[in-house]
Amino acid sequence: MKKRRPFIAGNWKMNGSKDSTASLVGALSLRFIQFKGDESRPFDMLVCPPFPYIAEAHEISGDSGLLIGAQDCSITPNGPHTGDVSPSMLKDVGAKWVILGHSERRTNHGETNAMVKDKAALAIDGGLSVIICVGETEAQKDSEQTFAVIKSQVSESLPANSTSKNTIIAYEPVWAIGTGRTPISSDIQAVHSFIRELLADLYDETKANEYRILYGGSVKPSNASTILSIEDVDGALVGGASLKVDDFWDIATGSI
Ligand code: PGA
Repeated sequence: MKKRRPFIAGNWKMNGSKDSTASLVGALSLRFIQFKGDESRPFDMLVCPPFPYIAEAHEISGDSGLLIGAQDCSITPNGPHTGDVSPSMLKDVGAKWVILGHSERRTNHGETNAMVKDKAALAIDGGLSVIICVGETEAQKDSEQTFAVIKSQVSESLPANSTSKNTIIAYEPVWAIGTGRTPISSDIQAVHSFIRELLADLYDETKANEYRILYGGSVKPSNASTILSIEDVDGALVGGASLKVDDFWDIATGSI
């Protein structure tokens, strides 16, 4: 039995269509509804479709308990920001969570820790919960900078209004995302317990023990139960394998 309820999140990235979103959310909701209203639900489950499909995903998920989220949000609440989507708009169409600081956003859109922090503050202020992603690149790993990188990402990306209820941290080594490679279990545990120590320094040990820390990067049914059984791993952020109902469900049940 895990200390913290496992949280299984699907990051669909820029994939799918209206139809595929409807069928994926429909199928997952049907399976998840068995835990409906159950405070002892064995895991939480979140899916984050592309922006245009969030409203429909929310409608289809109904009252199944399946959570719907977004993959990013604007750093400003409203106004002349062509192409941006604000946290309040996401909330308006049924999103409960937003992924922030994913390495693809950091790399492709130049997002910095300071930007992630401001986005997270705004999102939490607007009633959303956030998954803040951190992780080292392969070059940083090879030059033994992993812990330094994680330290600055965690301490500089967490906003003042973060709590263990509205914030989850996802450790995603950049070199493991979409590559089929994963760190060995002891390396995952070392980073996760390091993140928990950083949280204890920022807050206190009790609060640090309440935060959920997810692992992400090439999680699939064949490695999920091993990864999810690591002491300080409280769930998974899943990309590719979250686009297949059976694979995603197998990963989630691997957390039980
Ligand atoms: P992956 O992606 O599971 O396809 O490696 C994980 C992520 O980018 O969140």
